[in-house]
Amino acid sequence: NSIAQRHGKLWVGTAADIPGTAETTDAAYLKVLQKNFGEMTPANAMKFMYTEPEQNVFNFTDGDEFLEVAEKYNARVRCHNLVWVSQLSDFVTSTNWTAEALTLVMKNHIFKTVQHFGRRCYSWDVVNEALNSDGSFSSSVWYDTIGEDYFYLAYKYAQEALAEIGAHDVKLYYNDYGIENPGTKATAVLGLVSELHKREIRIDGVGLESHFIVGETPSLADQLSTKKAYIKANLDVVITELDIRFAETPYYTATVQQQQAADYYTSVTSCIQAGPRCVGIVVWDFDDAYSWVPGTFAGQGGADLFNSTLQAKPAYYAVAEALEGK
Ligand code: G3I
Repeated sequence: NSIAQRHGKLWVGTAADIPGTAETTDAAYLKVLQKNFGEMTPANAMKFMYTEPEQNVFNFTDGDEFLEVAEKYNARVRCHNLVWVSQLSDFVTSTNWTAEALTLVMKNHIFKTVQHFGRRCYSWDVVNEALNSDGSFSSSVWYDTIGEDYFYLAYKYAQEALAEIGAHDVKLYYNDYGIENPGTKATAVLGLVSELHKREIRIDGVGLESHFIVGETPSLADQLSTKKAYIKANLDVVITELDIRFAETPYYTATVQQQQAADYYTSVTSCIQAGPRCVGIVVWDFDDAYSWVPGTFAGQGGADLFNSTLQAKPAYYAVAEALEGK
């Protein structure tokens, strides 16, 4: 982050699964976090199932604790997320809602959550991962019950909730994967943004998750042209969940480590070359010990900048070089 800051406003951050986890009290991990990152994204603490476990019963304890750690480290926070298909509370998924009733649930969740955390959030991922790879809306309780209006309403409510507390500068993002390179899904995001603009509803940025596989990452030209397309649509761009995993072992030979370093270099360079509206780069965990990857993709891993004993990998130095513009 300190190298990035030399370029102006660009910041570098990481996801962290705090509080209530091993990370929370791991002094060596926290030291590396504090030294290297100027942004933190809560991997879980602000998600629906934790913030509103029962209807209209809110619990912001984990989110507040997360913010306290980030504030102690002078890290901004991308608050994550308000409306998603996953990690919902049972009351949302197990009720047979009418569109009107579920819209009120969504509105209440957005208002209470956004207003509680207020300006302590740099931005909110308002809607998260709403699309299939062909660009259509994916099935979720939100889409299946309310239809595509849920998407536009979510941004409208977030905008209204922030306006009510005078927090107009908290930015509103759409966050997704598979939209880092040109294609149907990236085009669909641009369509949603233009519909929001048409309805005069605010959206400030797009989060490109960038969960990639070593040796299979999109080219620099593709990552750059896609970022430029979002910027042309008057959006900020953030790489929000960067990690580049190995699909097969071994993870730690010199050859494969160099390929991973080259792939990280490409993503970071695409942000630098996109110009000042690529405002941030966030890795989704910075060390292999706490990575979400092995738990989700059996046999895969090694995705992060540090290995599981917190040694910096070639990828770490490649990111530093890319940030220096070398
Ligand atoms: O809280 C329970 C705990 O009580 C229980 O003992 C433990 C046993 O498995 O599970 C805990 O919940 C886990 C939770 O993380 C908190 O640690 C869930 O099982 C686990 O599924 C959940 O995983 C999170 C995942 O989102 C859920 O979809 C990951 O930590 C988090 O990194 C990941 O993040 C997502 C982004 O939000 C959106 N983009 C993709 C990204 C990676 O999947």
